[in-house]
Amino acid sequence: LMRVRQVRSKLGEVNTLEDVVRLIEGSSRVLVLCGAGMSTAVGIPDFRSKGGIYERIRQRYPFLDDPQLLFDIHQFRLDPRPFFELALELLPATDDALRPSVSHCFVAELERRGKLLRCYTQNIDGLERRAGVQRVVFCHGNFDTVTCVRCGWHGALSDAVRECIRAGQVPCCERCRRLQADDEDADVEEVEPVLKPDIVFFGESLSDAFFGQIHDDLEATDLLLVLGTSLQVAPVAKIPTSIRPGVPQILINRELVARARVEFDVELLGDCDVVVAELARRLQWEMASMTPASAY
Ligand code: APR
Ligand code: ZN
Repeated sequence: LMRVRQVRSKLGEVNTLEDVVRLIEGSSRVLVLCGAGMSTAVGIPDFRSKGGIYERIRQRYPFLDDPQLLFDIHQFRLDPRPFFELALELLPATDDALRPSVSHCFVAELERRGKLLRCYTQNIDGLERRAGVQRVVFCHGNFDTVTCVRCGWHGALSDAVRECIRAGQVPCCERCRRLQADDEDADVEEVEPVLKPDIVFFGESLSDAFFGQIHDDLEATDLLLVLGTSLQVAPVAKIPTSIRPGVPQILINRELVARARVEFDVELLGDCDVVVAELARRLQWEMASMTPASAY
């Protein structure tokens, strides 16, 4: 279930699971970097694994030479329909059926114990916050708010718009609709008044929340935990190689992560919920809430 591979003994003492436990016990500024692998246990597919989002896009849109185009801002402006046909698989359900995984709860417990510097998530499902994590940066945005690509109107994702997206439809901007109705001869611009969820598309810049925080955190952190990500997308993928030398870096992931230069000190390879539950057990963290998602 879990294989601990010592990859680098550069720091000498970091080479076994017990050392990882000791690092967590001694740390007060853990920087958690997480990805889609954190949410697969609760039924949200990741992107690059077999059966993941990109495989589904390839099957549905074989003409697309790159499945990432569905998340490309220029493609979206040309035709948002393919994105909204897929968004249903990405849009968090409103009901509690979508509950945080054991790994989300582990991050919340790090914070509860005053150990979490910040959780940088690439995920847009909002489960970190549902697990109670406050110190979270949504690097790739989330579905909490939407923005009109024509007039720039920005607001919370309303139930009506959520239902529209869940029906696979393209949500339209009410404000633009009213302006157009009030002003009959308003020239109908070629840009459709589409409400785009505030997730970061390829071709868009990451949020101010990310750039405003990351530099201080890279300096401050005393332990990096990378959880459930293939680290394929910059600038998030550059976090491990931007941290001060000598700060231990731990990978918790199903598979090795192909990375240039910096290697992890320890790679805890396996299902992240199983790994973090074992870490919590050795840390003697009573975590009733860390019931593996499958038991929900
Ligand atoms: N336990 C541990 N690891 C897991 C689990 C699990 N239960 N499920 C999946 N994984 C691993 C996969 O093996 C893979 O290495 O998590 C990683 C998920 O990688 P990706 O699918 O590439 O997802 P992620 O790294 O979050 O993608 C980053 O790419 O498409 C963009 O913007 C999108 O935020 C996304 C970014
Ligand atoms: Zn508008």
